[in-house]
Amino acid sequence: MSSQRVSLHGMWSSRAIFVMATVGSAVGLGNIWKFPYISGEYGGGAFIVVYLACIALIGIPIMMAEILLGRRGRSSPISTMRQLAREEGASPAWSLVGYSGVVAGFLILSFYSVIAGWALAYVFQSASGGLNGVTAERAAGLFGDLVGSPWQLMIWHSVFMSMTVVVVARGVRRGLERAVTLLMPALFAMLLIMVGYAYVEGDFIRGFEFMFNVDFSKVFQLCTGAAEELQCQFHGEPVLVAMGHAFFTLSLGMGAIMAYGAYVPEHASITGATIAIAIADTLVALLAGLAIFPIVFASGLEPAAGPGLIFQTLPIAFGNMPGGQWFGTVFFILLVFAAWTSSISIAEPAVAWLVEIRGWRRGSAAVLVGCLAWFMGIGSVLSFNLWSGEEYQLFGKTLFDLKDFLASNIMLPLGGLLIALFVAYGAGRHMALEELAISRQHLFDAWWFVIRFVAPVGIAMVFLNSIGVF
Ligand code: TRP
Repeated sequence: MSSQRVSLHGMWSSRAIFVMATVGSAVGLGNIWKFPYISGEYGGGAFIVVYLACIALIGIPIMMAEILLGRRGRSSPISTMRQLAREEGASPAWSLVGYSGVVAGFLILSFYSVIAGWALAYVFQSASGGLNGVTAERAAGLFGDLVGSPWQLMIWHSVFMSMTVVVVARGVRRGLERAVTLLMPALFAMLLIMVGYAYVEGDFIRGFEFMFNVDFSKVFQLCTGAAEELQCQFHGEPVLVAMGHAFFTLSLGMGAIMAYGAYVPEHASITGATIAIAIADTLVALLAGLAIFPIVFASGLEPAAGPGLIFQTLPIAFGNMPGGQWFGTVFFILLVFAAWTSSISIAEPAVAWLVEIRGWRRGSAAVLVGCLAWFMGIGSVLSFNLWSGEEYQLFGKTLFDLKDFLASNIMLPLGGLLIALFVAYGAGRHMALEELAISRQHLFDAWWFVIRFVAPVGIAMVFLNSIGVF
């Protein structure tokens, strides 16, 4: 049974380290870069409420499912799915969940590294005093200069991808554990200070209202026509994006958490760990929003400015606060670390799988995965400059947008749906009961109900809605 199985790839030294590593995976660019910019694009409050509902009703239960599968299978997601399907007498086709996760991982890593490269560039920008005293226009100009230059982006993308390969090559424990225990709390503290700055110097009321004033009609209705005969229709895309982001920010649906679950010591409570991880992740995202939107409004910027949002607003704060040069430098360093502890988890399923099936050393597998993702990343780099024009777009989206949309909003929720279905119907109750070992029966029953009905039906409804079925 599972208790005899050990992972070929090593184990976390304790449950606390597992929680920390998983928080490291969850907290990253998704919270600090993506959450503010998509909340801004989709109108704030109502979008954020849907996102929070998805975290609670879909994200948390599916995270528990991923961890329990990982811990029982103790190998890469592909092998884990194949093995557990065999043990439970289910179809070997369930291993497709693992394969699709590896593909999604490559798509995500290939833009994640480029954005993390922006953060790297801003470490140097801030340290050299380049942000001192910047105005909103100047901050936007600096950002435009950076993303307008394919060469600069390629260099930073290459640096970040190499950093990822180095840590993945060293294995799940060495290097990673220390980084997470120290730097995550530091990032959290910095964010708190920045919310303080936004409170004093920004338009805090407006920022707060933008985030928490829930007006569903503003976000989920699309109205056309003149004022008297306004035609309003339900608009599903924000719901799909909110759900996709719940998966993205918790690192769910592609096997990253399953891979980390494979290294969890026996007898660690999965439920408690999951809730702690989800709360930490959500707090960081909300704090990032509270630090950014007050500055957006105080500087007359657009909340819907897109992927550059934090790089156009935070420099205004750093450039004009006492000690901002130092503070900004440290902040961007911590952001790079947050991205780093996430990117290694995106690569982990593919690397673990190569080690298993090819018998390669981790180093070689990490280099191969890194090279492939790096190559795919060239398309993300060019999406912001040479290929940003309409002739290079599909459905009004650049290659970067398309990769993000396909991976985050389609592949991750689909992976999550299949994981829920496998746990609920492919394997069945006895496996979940054994692995979760929840002492309070009604808690288990609640989770079991959610994983059988609420989460799958919820995901399916959002999908059907977004393709216009209702
Ligand atoms: N959750 C991370 C973030 O918010 C990104 C991430 C890490 C991820 N591993 C993942 C996203 C796996 C999807 C799947 O920045």
